[in-house]
Amino acid sequence: MGPGQLWPVLLLALVLAVGSQLQEQLPRESHNLNWNKFSGFWYILAVASDAQGFLPGRDKRKLGASLVQIHRAGQLKVVFAFTRSQGCQSHTLILRKDGKKAVFRNALKGVAGFRVLTTDYSSGVVAVHLGRAGRTSRTLLFFSRQNTSSFLGLKKFVDICEALELARGVTVLPKDASCAHTILP
Ligand SMILES: *[C@@H]1O[C@H](CO)[C@@H](O)[C@H](O)[C@H]1NC(C)=O
Repeated sequence: MGPGQLWPVLLLALVLAVGSQLQEQLPRESHNLNWNKFSGFWYILAVASDAQGFLPGRDKRKLGASLVQIHRAGQLKVVFAFTRSQGCQSHTLILRKDGKKAVFRNALKGVAGFRVLTTDYSSGVVAVHLGRAGRTSRTLLFFSRQNTSSFLGLKKFVDICEALELARGVTVLPKDASCAHTILP
């Protein structure tokens, strides 16, 4: 192999090494998440998605919200409120835990995965995979107990989006809680 042929191989090795390092920097699935502490009302302050048309036009965007409840062992009830192009909409989902993994699903409703990537119970990052086999979209949600976030909190969200190659889709939502408050408990 001449030097000219070696270069692409080295480059590939470098890309793989950096890629796996990023994976390792990512928070592990929260196996020891305390779901009682994670339960309750969350504002969704920012979103990053590779789904087409996930967010409405700029002038229609508002804060989202999620209400998380333990339904029964291994089941979560999750309500989402989002402003779409049709206006404020809420959806209720019952999600089941996937065996021993810290991921919840509802295949019938097209939720291929709901997992908490990281949380300190006052804010957190949630990954939601929507769609069915082979055709899923990825959306990351920045959860916060309060309607605003510190710069560092937001930076952490953006860092995770970058590691998962979703940074180009990061959108910070305008501070209008009128849709979010429709699902206040
Ligand atoms: C955010 O929350 C604070 C404290 O609860 C409240 O005073 C403020 O009006 C809220 N802002 C919005 C935009 O909802």
